[in-house]
Amino acid sequence: MTRTPVNVTVTGAAGQIGYALLFRIASGHLLGADVPVRLRLLEIPQGLKAAEGTAMELDDAAFPLLRGIDITDDPNAAFDGANVALLVGARPRTKGMERGDLLSANGGIFKPQGKAINDHAADDIKVLVVGNPANTNALIAQSAAPDVPAERFTAMTRLDHNRAIAQLAKRTGAAVSDIKRVTIWGNHSATQYPDIFHAEVAGKNAAEVVNDEQWLADTFIPTVAKRGAAIIEARGASSAASAASAALDHVHTWVNGTADGDWTSMGIVSDGSYGVPAGLISSFPVTTKDGSYEIVQGLDINEFSRPRIDASVKELEEERAAVRELGLI
Ligand code: NAD
Ligand code: LMR
Repeated sequence: MTRTPVNVTVTGAAGQIGYALLFRIASGHLLGADVPVRLRLLEIPQGLKAAEGTAMELDDAAFPLLRGIDITDDPNAAFDGANVALLVGARPRTKGMERGDLLSANGGIFKPQGKAINDHAADDIKVLVVGNPANTNALIAQSAAPDVPAERFTAMTRLDHNRAIAQLAKRTGAAVSDIKRVTIWGNHSATQYPDIFHAEVAGKNAAEVVNDEQWLADTFIPTVAKRGAAIIEARGASSAASAASAALDHVHTWVNGTADGDWTSMGIVSDGSYGVPAGLISSFPVTTKDGSYEIVQGLDINEFSRPRIDASVKELEEERAAVRELGLI
């Protein structure tokens, strides 16, 4: 049976994440090994030539699943009929900056893109915002798209989720595949809270396996939360291949479902669960099935976790107030 190609729009296609992302989308890692895709690449005028070069390389790879590439600097054309939109295009931070410092530089990108998605995307559009500050940029785009169900706008905390798994695997000597139910709460920023109290290492409670609250507070949490800055310090540029990999994981899990007994972390519009004010885009533990997701309910939030979740949520409220002030929502 010939399947209709899925339209995947990628913004910032000529950037470093774009370069790491596009070839893997075209080889089936975003949606599945049997799902053909048509790529729509959105760039600013200065990025168009480089995007064309990347498109030439995509052609040269002769991916059987790739059914076409369009390149444009017009958001209305880029999102026309889009089924999946990866909003990557934005300035990355450099040494010494926090991600929130990018709000005024990048926030303005997401309002017109949200409107273009509202006016032109397909009815089943799913949006992932990668460009920083990702949660609040997702809020800006979502606010500009009143006709699209709010839950279709998500922000990427999967990179943090994967980082937490990797650090926990290192500490415990377990395989990455033996680690389940890690949660990232809050903002994709240094205030995020990677929570292992409900996580499992080879079927055992992770916090009990680690049994070292000081390691959690002084090593694990800051290592995960400040990993982006550590990568910038080491590479001289912000994470790219790991970010692209996490973006693929995010959408693949959203579309194809979480494994039984496991969950993932996604920045999503809060419904008020766990005391996170409704409407903020905050990271939660979620299960996914048939292209939809649900917040994992009923987790006990202990005294160690509560203030850490609250601190990150407070930062999201401050970012929301700042973009209101800028007229972006
Ligand atoms: P980059 O500078 O290499 O590429 C960004 C690209 O976006 C450039 O080609 C630029 O021309 C393009 N661009 C700028 N404005 C645009 C617009 N309005 N429309 C379309 N394209 C536009 O940056 P990068 O390293 O690829 O990072 C991109 C973003 O992703 C940054 O904001 C970075 O901080 C963020 N990021 C987020 C995560 C996460 O976990 N959420 C991880 C890594 C990076
Ligand atoms: C990351 O987490 O690596 C990205 O958000 C880039 C950054 O600025 O930290």
